[in-house]
Amino acid sequence: MSQFPSALEFVMGALEQIRDRGEKLPRASRTSLVELRSVRPAQSRTERALVRQSSGGDASPSLQGTDKAALLAAIQTRVAVCTKCPHLARTRTQTVFGVGNPDAELMFIGEAPGADEDRRGEPFVGRAGQLLTKIIETIGFRRDEVYIANVLKCRPDMPPGNSGNRPPTPLEMQTCLPYLAEQIGIIQPKVLVALGATAVEGLLGTRGVMRELRGKWNSHQNTPLMITYHPSYLLRNQAPSEKRKVWEDMLQVLERLDRPITEKQRNYFR
Ligand code: URA
Repeated sequence: MSQFPSALEFVMGALEQIRDRGEKLPRASRTSLVELRSVRPAQSRTERALVRQSSGGDASPSLQGTDKAALLAAIQTRVAVCTKCPHLARTRTQTVFGVGNPDAELMFIGEAPGADEDRRGEPFVGRAGQLLTKIIETIGFRRDEVYIANVLKCRPDMPPGNSGNRPPTPLEMQTCLPYLAEQIGIIQPKVLVALGATAVEGLLGTRGVMRELRGKWNSHQNTPLMITYHPSYLLRNQAPSEKRKVWEDMLQVLERLDRPITEKQRNYFR
């Protein structure tokens, strides 16, 4: 029975591919249905939550970290073989699922893996990632205490010979978003932080000007969502005024999490 979650993931992946290709609805024989029914009573709590999760329900609020880790691992397996965007599946080195504490109270969401992340298979490990890690540590968390993911799990493809980045298209984001929704549904963080305008567009479906969007609370999947600048913006624009804005946004996050704020933190950019 311990193989049940991965077997289920395998079946779900195959069914999704059949549906995406517009092929006929798959049919199951009476014998398979009877066999499937016979394994149900023995499902563990994690497996039942996995089935609930995959049918669009929220993960049980009583899920523990290990259960959440198992659920996330099952989705990660599905993401790793995803070919919903064939052009991205062809050009990626690997998918970049997410990293951190499956039970995190704070979750950061960026736009898409860059070249470094595509190579390493982990979000935010390049220059922008190092700055994000610094921000996380300055607000009093370790990087492995929070959860970090992107709207898109594949590096957006670039023309041959071009090593730059491009933002994901609305269709790419729409296609990939269900995976992020599942991650959020399992982790159930107390606060989400959207990094930059593309992450906001993916999460809220609205395109806006960051100057107006940042520093404000929104809501996504019934979770408070703070919008702030993407760390790569801070790398491009080194003005202390911009760093201070991100810091003010992070102080709002700490307040929302009921985390103590030291005098030093409060006056960091004063
Ligand atoms: N920028 C992002 O939005 N995500 C990453 O993982 C890296 C850079």
